[in-house]
Amino acid sequence: MSKKINLPKIIHDPNKMNLETVRQKNKKKKIVFIPTMGALHEGHLSLIKKGKKIKGLTIVSIFVNPIQFNDINDLKKYPNTLKKDIENLRQLKVDYLFLPNVEKIFPNNFETTVSINNLQKFLCGKNRPGHFNGVSTIVLKLFNIISPNVAIFGKKDFQQLTIVKKMVEDLNMNIKILEGSIIRESNGLAMSSRNKLLSPKNFHKASNIYKGLKYIKDEYKKGEKSSKKLIKKLEKYYIQSEIRNIDYIEIFDPLTLHSIKYVKKGAIIAIAVKIGAVRLIDNLKF
Ligand code: PAF
Repeated sequence: MSKKINLPKIIHDPNKMNLETVRQKNKKKKIVFIPTMGALHEGHLSLIKKGKKIKGLTIVSIFVNPIQFNDINDLKKYPNTLKKDIENLRQLKVDYLFLPNVEKIFPNNFETTVSINNLQKFLCGKNRPGHFNGVSTIVLKLFNIISPNVAIFGKKDFQQLTIVKKMVEDLNMNIKILEGSIIRESNGLAMSSRNKLLSPKNFHKASNIYKGLKYIKDEYKKGEKSSKKLIKKLEKYYIQSEIRNIDYIEIFDPLTLHSIKYVKKGAIIAIAVKIGAVRLIDNLKF
């Protein structure tokens, strides 16, 4: 009789996780890794489903990385839905959940951080000093612990995806980075763990974020190519929709993240706004 195994296998200890992945790799298993901070939503689940199609061993990590939060209140408020997350992972037949605690990942004598030179100077990096160094450091640590063949990141955080891809290239890491599409709520709002923190009124208001981006893409299709004019139009649209706390609206080249004067096919428009106390980001490709 075959033994019923309860998946995912939950591993807390980084060394155990490492030994397990080495063991599996020796058996020629392909390791597919999806890093998360938990509070899983359809966006994460779509990344996992994409990973499952690769037919390897799927590993998901849940770790709320303190060194990528530059606002302590944001860290404190970060939603935790662990029980439900584990149930979702079980249903998707994820093989391992890596669930380390902070002390194991960042002991008191922790010294080393990855430092991103230029790509962190734009977009979210401007108002979140140290954020992308924090992201890169944890991603590198997780990659070293898990040594995946493939890792999957969502396109909603476009800057994060770009920085991770660049780090992998710069540091000669033999890991294929796959991208997952932005998954949206039925009102168009990009899925985010932070959406849980929006009041119903603000959730409704936040639907204008994506509506605004689509409106700008339409204006571009109708012939407006000036980034400055398109950005002005979007600002106006947001203000009319009572979205007043705009962190940035940028139109930029997808590889360098440098803003461009005139929009061309493939360029990205990205925004970050605050609705109530909740910071939300989104983007759209022209
Ligand atoms: O996108 C996230 O959830 C996080 O930034 C990540 C990649 C898991 C690193 O903490």
